[in-house]
Amino acid sequence: MSQRETWATRTGFILAAVGSAVGLGNIWRFPFQTSANGGAAFLVVYLAAVLLIGIPVILAEFSIGRRANVDAIKAFRTLDHSGWRFVGAIGILASFWTLSYYSVVGGWVTRYVAGSVTGNALAAPEGYFGAVSAGLPAIVTHAIFLAVTIGIVAFGIERGIELATKFMVPSIVVLLIALAVFAATLPGASEGYAFFLSPDFSVIVEDAATILPAAFGQALFSLSLGFSVMITYASYLGRDDSLLADGLAIAITNTFVGVLAGLVVLPLLFAQGVPPGEGGAGAVFVAIPTALAELPGGGLVGRAIGVVFFAVVFIAALSSAISLLEAVVAYAVDTFGISRAPAAIGLGIAGFLLGIPSALDTAWLDWFDGIGVTLFLPLAVLSVVVFVGWIMGDEAIDELRRGSDLTGVGPAWLWTLRTFVLLVVVLIVALNFNDLFLTPDAGYYIVPGPLR
Ligand code: PHE
Repeated sequence: MSQRETWATRTGFILAAVGSAVGLGNIWRFPFQTSANGGAAFLVVYLAAVLLIGIPVILAEFSIGRRANVDAIKAFRTLDHSGWRFVGAIGILASFWTLSYYSVVGGWVTRYVAGSVTGNALAAPEGYFGAVSAGLPAIVTHAIFLAVTIGIVAFGIERGIELATKFMVPSIVVLLIALAVFAATLPGASEGYAFFLSPDFSVIVEDAATILPAAFGQALFSLSLGFSVMITYASYLGRDDSLLADGLAIAITNTFVGVLAGLVVLPLLFAQGVPPGEGGAGAVFVAIPTALAELPGGGLVGRAIGVVFFAVVFIAALSSAISLLEAVVAYAVDTFGISRAPAAIGLGIAGFLLGIPSALDTAWLDWFDGIGVTLFLPLAVLSVVVFVGWIMGDEAIDELRRGSDLTGVGPAWLWTLRTFVLLVVVLIVALNFNDLFLTPDAGYYIVPGPLR
């Protein structure tokens, strides 16, 4: 077999990982999760979650991946713990599962770029969303979005993913900054900032049982953790750079982009008197165009901003979808020796088929999202934490130290994983399970909405 691929540069790896992290989660899910969960209070808990849970767990996934240098399931055999292969398997399953509906939303976004150019998306937002998010149009755009994803993954790590994300990530940041500057000029933007940036701590205490799991789930999803994606990306690291520095850079950039997106979306909604929606798959696709349509300038300004905004969302979604497909493709390539291009095409088509229910009915999409984020993700993160903390142990510290000589950090990190992180993740799993299996009205995602 030919030699396994690696990232050409360290920056390439960081940008690819940032590309994975920055996605619909930051730009679409985050501002709306924030609105639905008490505004700035949610932001505070989210930031704490990134710092206390996200960073330790991203380092855990990195240490598995770089140590094993192979796909996320075989990795556990390479590390001499074959019995733990299920950890990688849950993550890969979660990736495949998520790809299916993520690409449906990616398809809508693709359509909205075009709809902003023509102005149709802004003319009658509700009707437009209804038309593009169901039935054949949604299936077609889902197929187009996945085809682009497949195309990039098929080209491989260096010539596909690294090359593409090198352009994509800087574009996202630059364009979002420009949009945030524009949003700052809107009348009443300060109302949006106030909602987003001045926390009411009593809300955190009152609604802890919903805010905590929502914010921690969002932090993990947003950093692409629990999906075997960061294990896979780190497995292409050929050399010994500091995992800690890379992990921090990725977490900081990802958070920065999330906050930036909030600074674009919330002022826009507030300034135009559109109340922040209740979340749900479609909210942003109706609320944003409604707000855009009300901008001055006879609709032209709204269309121009719409094109830029949805282009940013498109790029962000694409660089995340790439990583979701890559986690699965790496498995086919490394474990079964299938060539990359056919693996990407075959698995991409399978993901397309799994996404069809979500394309036909957004209630299915909500269900896929709910199961992915509240069932697969916490279980995978829990098993990663137990594995690295208690099974890999000193070997993980050794891996973290390769490329950086931070003596005290390794043990501190490991003990954080073993105790605090483990405890919090167990709590999240418990709260989610309660929602999933025991609370018919609140969550109860285990029965798909359309079948209830
Ligand atoms: N982090 C991505 C986002 O915020 C979603 C994602 C999750 C991508 C898991 C890959 C793996 O949109």
